[in-house]
Amino acid sequence: MNETALLSLELTDFRSYKHVHLPLDARPVVLYGRNGAGKTNILEAISLLVPGRGLRRVRLDVPIRREANGQGWAVHAQYRHAGGEAGAPPLPIGTGYDRTRGNRIVRIDGVTVRPLTLADHIRLVWLTPEQDRLFAGPRAPRLRFFDRLTLSLHPDHGRNANAYEKAMRNRQRLLDEGAHDATWIAGCEREMASAGARVMQARADTLAQLQYEIENHGDSGFPRADLTLAGGYEDAPSGDEADLEAALLGIIEQSRPRDCAAGRALCGPHRADLEVGWRAKAMPAARSSTGEQKALLIGLTLAHARAVAAQEGGPAPLILLDEACAHLDTERRALLIEEICALKGQAWLSGTDASLFEAFGDRAQYFEVSGGTVQSRN
Ligand SMILES: Nc1ncnc2c1ncn2[C@@H]1O[C@H](COP(=O)(O)OP(=O)(O)O)[C@@H](O)[C@H]1O
Ligand SMILES: [Mg+2]
Repeated sequence: MNETALLSLELTDFRSYKHVHLPLDARPVVLYGRNGAGKTNILEAISLLVPGRGLRRVRLDVPIRREANGQGWAVHAQYRHAGGEAGAPPLPIGTGYDRTRGNRIVRIDGVTVRPLTLADHIRLVWLTPEQDRLFAGPRAPRLRFFDRLTLSLHPDHGRNANAYEKAMRNRQRLLDEGAHDATWIAGCEREMASAGARVMQARADTLAQLQYEIENHGDSGFPRADLTLAGGYEDAPSGDEADLEAALLGIIEQSRPRDCAAGRALCGPHRADLEVGWRAKAMPAARSSTGEQKALLIGLTLAHARAVAAQEGGPAPLILLDEACAHLDTERRALLIEEICALKGQAWLSGTDASLFEAFGDRAQYFEVSGGTVQSRN
C-alpha cells in the first residue's frame, strides 16, 4: 500500500476540463486514452500541487480552459501523507490561479497559505516524453534535469545556483566593459567560487545518493546506470567545501584573460554535464537505442524517487510518468510495473492503451480519458 497518495482529485476549468472528479484509492493510477484525450493535462494539474510552473513550465494563466469565460482554474486533492496517523482523514490541498487578481492561491486544510508551503507537504517526481532525447541531446537540458533532481534533495540548491549565475554575469559585464578595477572583478570571482562550490557539492552528493540507490536496490532486471559528473568535476577535490572553493577560485582567476576574450566564462559549474553509462553494456547511454535510453531514464527517475523517500522528515514523492511505457518492450514494461508497485509513493501513468498496463492486474486503478471526461474502469 502506498504511504503517500492522492485519494481524490478534482479539476475545474483546467485545460480541456470544465469539471472533473477522480475518486481514488492509494494504488497507482493508470490514465489511458487517445492522443489529445487529456491525459497529460491531468498530470500537469497534479504537478501544480508543488511550487513552480508545473511539468509544462507555463505561465499560470495558460492552463485556464479556453472555452470558459471564467477567470481561473483550480485543482483540489485529498492527500494522504506519510506520518499521518492510520485512519486519520486525508489532508485537503487546493491550488488555483485567479486572473483578475493575477495571483496563485493555495489552501491547505482550509487555510490560505503561501505557495511555497506546498513543498512542505507534497513532493513530486516527473518524467515526460520531452525528456526522451535527454541523453543523446544537448548538454543544457540534461544539466537542468539533473539540477531538478538535486533541488529536491537539497532545497537551497536553487538559491546557490542563482547566486553563482548572478556573480558570473556581473563579472562578465565588468570584463566586457574593460573595467580596470580588479577589486570588483575579484569580488565577483570570490562569490562565484563560494556559491559555485556549494552548487558542485550538492550535485556531487545527489549523484552519490542516486548511485547508492542504483547499487543497493537488488537485481530488478531494470537497467542500471553509471553516473558521472563531467566538465570541471574531474579534478575537483572531494569532501571539504573550503578546499573545493579555493580550487574553483584558482580556476576562475586563471581563466580570466580567456573569459575576457571569449565574452563568457569558459569554466565553472555552469559547464557541468551529467554522463550516463549503461552498466551491463559498458557503453554511454547516448549510444543505446531509444527504448534502452528510456529504460535508463526511468531507472534513474525511480532511483531518485527512492532517494527522496529515504530522506528523513519528508513524505515519499508522488511520481508522474507521462507516456513512460511507449518505447518499452513487454518485459521491461512488466519490470517497470513491479518497480512501481514497490515504491512508497503513488505513481501516475499515462498511455494510449490500457493493454500497456496489463501486468498491474488489480494492483492499479484505471481511468479512461476522452474529450474532457474521465471514466473509472475498475
Ligand atoms: N487552455 C486550454 N483550454 C482548453 N483546451 C486545452 C487547453 N490547453 C490544452 N487543451 C486541449 O487539451 C488537449 C491535449 O490534452 P493532453 O492532455 O495533452 O492530451 P494527451 O491525452 O495526448 O496527453 C488538446 O486537445 C488541447 O486542445
Ligand atoms: Mg500527453
